[in-house]
Amino acid sequence: MNLLQKKILEDGVIKSGDVLKVDSFLNHQIDVPFISELGKEFKKIFATSRVNKILTVEASGIGIACLTAIHFGVPVVFAKKSQGSQMDPHVYATSVKSFTHNKTNTVVVAKQYLNAGDRVLIIDDFLANGCATEGLIDLAKQAGATVEGVGIAIEKGFQGGGDRLRSHGVRVESLAIIDKMDAATGKIQFRD
Ligand code: G4P
Repeated sequence: MNLLQKKILEDGVIKSGDVLKVDSFLNHQIDVPFISELGKEFKKIFATSRVNKILTVEASGIGIACLTAIHFGVPVVFAKKSQGSQMDPHVYATSVKSFTHNKTNTVVVAKQYLNAGDRVLIIDDFLANGCATEGLIDLAKQAGATVEGVGIAIEKGFQGGGDRLRSHGVRVESLAIIDKMDAATGKIQFRD
């Protein structure tokens, strides 16, 4: 069992609707030394990738993206949730449907911060259905950037987004993959 899996078992709370709350170390209070260790792990996993930029989406991806970027020595660009600036010529824009929150957001990145030739590592705290990650891949593609891979802290494997991306050839590396969780018993089963 790795450090993150242990932490999830100790501090995670399973809510109804297949939601795992990890507010004590990742989504509300941030355990900075601990999340920085996760960032170090991403650096090891993507050691041979020539990453020059980390891409995430606001809000909760920003913390882990920054604590990963420290280990790569590269900047973080975060896509912003925006109200209808799809037509702004200065931004790349894409739609991201959130199943958890049951709404669709337009997310944008200013063209000046994402360029052809960039080698991007996408980092996020959660991967569920994969829509946020797909949106970020779309933004990178629009810019002509290369996606070196995707680093996720907690993947909810039973929602299928990670495996769908992998089947399309995307390198998705998750530090903890949950295959089953049960709100009634509090039991969590990780993928080996
Ligand atoms: P997807 O992006 O993988 O398709 O997932 P989905 O639409 O289901 O989730 C959307 C949002 O909910 C994301 O945050 C994601 O990080 C978060 N999320 C999904 N499942 C869980 C979970 O079990 N626990 C927690 N804590 N978060 C989860 P977002 O909409 O980008 O919002 P923000 O909180 O980052 O601002």
